[in-house]
Amino acid sequence: MIFLFISKLLLSNFRNYEKTTISFSSNINVLYGRNGSGKTNVLEAINILSRGKSQRITKDNELIMLDKDAFLIKGLLNSNGYESTVQCSYNQGKGKKLLYNGQSITNSKELFSQLPTVSFLPENLDLIKGGPEQRRLFLDDILVVISVQYKDYLNRYSKVLYQRNQLLKDIRKKGLTKDALDSWDNQLIYYGDRIIKYRYKLLYEIRPFLQKNYVKLADSEETVTFQYTNTLAEQGEDQYDKLLLKKREEDIARGYTSVGPHRDDLLLLINQQKARSFASQGQQRSIVLALKLAEVEYLAKILGRWPILLLDDVMSELDVQRRMGLVSLAKLTGQVFLTTTEKDHVPEELGSATYFFIDNGSIQRKD
Ligand SMILES: Nc1ncnc2c1ncn2[C@@H]1O[C@H](COP(=O)(O)OP(=O)(O)O)[C@@H](O)[C@H]1O
Ligand SMILES: [Mg+2]
Repeated sequence: MIFLFISKLLLSNFRNYEKTTISFSSNINVLYGRNGSGKTNVLEAINILSRGKSQRITKDNELIMLDKDAFLIKGLLNSNGYESTVQCSYNQGKGKKLLYNGQSITNSKELFSQLPTVSFLPENLDLIKGGPEQRRLFLDDILVVISVQYKDYLNRYSKVLYQRNQLLKDIRKKGLTKDALDSWDNQLIYYGDRIIKYRYKLLYEIRPFLQKNYVKLADSEETVTFQYTNTLAEQGEDQYDKLLLKKREEDIARGYTSVGPHRDDLLLLINQQKARSFASQGQQRSIVLALKLAEVEYLAKILGRWPILLLDDVMSELDVQRRMGLVSLAKLTGQVFLTTTEKDHVPEELGSATYFFIDNGSIQRKD
């Protein structure tokens, strides 16, 4: 296993950082400071180096410090003693540029393999209670960074789906011929089938990690597992094309496509019961934490290095037992970044953490 960490980060005109260079610890880095001081911005910068884009927003423009016209994020990486650099710059006129060791890099999978990260936000804790979209996103976010093919299928599927839905509405409103749907259906099936297969395979791979982490976190022996809710299979029709045809009139009436991977869900189960209705709030949170840690372990397994953990403000949402559980599992992985408004929320068990005080876009290391 390669031991990877970010040793240095440079931010220039990024969000509320005008010019800052920080040296990090290879283990646990605690960023603390008031709300709005710039803690999440640091994690976002690391996330951008890892994925080539922010997971928070879609417009790179918003990342530039107000009244400036370009930003730069640069990270110095250390992998088993070997140094490398990764950098992302964005210029209002010239657009975005990603460099790895000074060379342009456009393949998001390659970038992610060099610097894998897993983010953990308070809203993730509501994964079980929230809508299916969040749970699909959990799967898609993993798959798009480890498979260029999946990313491509997903993009194409969304475009075809959009076109098909437009056409469904036009058929209803303007009385266009229904035959025009055939070619969209074929493409939808082609990409949709592949997306579903990838998701099944991923779930198969992370299943064992989920149970193991749950037992450690919750300190109890309930069985935790999941089921992929496939809207195609649910309709009792194993043939995608036949099902789309069967649903055609209904889809036209509604103006959207009712079956396919864009409607699927991930059902979480505890002792074979639906966690959503059966598990307590605390159990639900343990399941989500275990699921996220399963993501971490799975990525470590396939990439040969621990992803860097970005824990944004999650401590305040957890009770003491789960805080300790999370911290003790996080300690077994690679480099960790953890933000908090209350230093006291970080358990003592953390041991050798390095603390950084953040105030209004300035960072002070507290040794
Ligand atoms: N493009 C930008 N230019 C300047 N300041 C920004 C920009 N985007 C966000 N900010 C500032 O960053 C701060 C929020 O930072 P954030 O990291 O989310 O804080 P927190 O410490 O609460 O996580 C706010 O003060 C906001 O005004
Ligand atoms: Mg924040």
